[in-house]
Amino acid sequence: MTDSPLPIAVLISGSGSNLQALIDAQDAAQDYVVAVVISDRPDVRGLDRAADAGISTKVVEWADFESRSSFTRALCDVADCHGAKGLVLAGFMRILAPIAMKRFPAAIINVHPALLPAFPGAHAVENAIEYGVTLTGVTVHFVDEQVDHGPIIVQEAVRVAADDDQTSLHRRIQDVEHRLLPDAVSAFARGNLTVQGRHVRWDRMPEEAVG
Ligand code: GRF
Repeated sequence: MTDSPLPIAVLISGSGSNLQALIDAQDAAQDYVVAVVISDRPDVRGLDRAADAGISTKVVEWADFESRSSFTRALCDVADCHGAKGLVLAGFMRILAPIAMKRFPAAIINVHPALLPAFPGAHAVENAIEYGVTLTGVTVHFVDEQVDHGPIIVQEAVRVAADDDQTSLHRRIQDVEHRLLPDAVSAFARGNLTVQGRHVRWDRMPEEAVG
C-alpha cells in the first residue's frame, strides 16, 4: 500500500452511480482519492454527486474540439493538472485517442456492463437481452487502443431472468459494478495488479469475483 492515497481522475457522461460507489469506498479503502471528475456533458447528475462530495469538476465538451486527439489531450491535461496518476472511465461514453494510453500507460480503467468479449459497445445490456443469453455480467478492464478490449482485471456473471427488461437487468448489473470497480481501483492504486500481455495478475483476488 502506498503511503498516501493515489489521486485518480474519474470520467463520466451521466448519472455517475459508479462515481458515487468510488467516492463512497475511498475513505474506507484509503488507497485512492478522486482528485477530479471530468464530464463530456454539462448538467449531468454525476457532476452534482462530485460537487456534493467537495470534489473538483470540469466539463470538457466533445463539440469544442476539432479532433478526438485534441479532445483527449484536453481531458488528460485536466487530469494532469489535478495530479491524477490514473483515469477511471465510469460510464464515460466517448472513445479516447491513443494519446491517452501514452500519457497514462496501463493506468486507464473502464467498467463495461457485459462479459467481454461478448457485447462490446454502447448497447451491451440491450444487446444481451436481444441475443437471448441467460448469463451476462460485468467486466472491469484496462483500456487499450481498441474499444472494450484491453486486459481484463475482473469479471463477474449476472443471470438474465426470463422476465428481465433492460432496466431491471441493468440495475442488477450496476449493483455488481458498484462493488467490482472500487475493488479494482483500490488494487490498482496499491500496485497490486500486474499486466502481462492480455493477463492481469492480482496479488490477492476479491473474494466474490470469478476473475
Ligand atoms: C454503467 O452501467 C457502465 O457500465 C456503462 O454505463 C453505465 C454508467 O452508469 N458503461 P453510471 O453513470 O455510473 O450510473
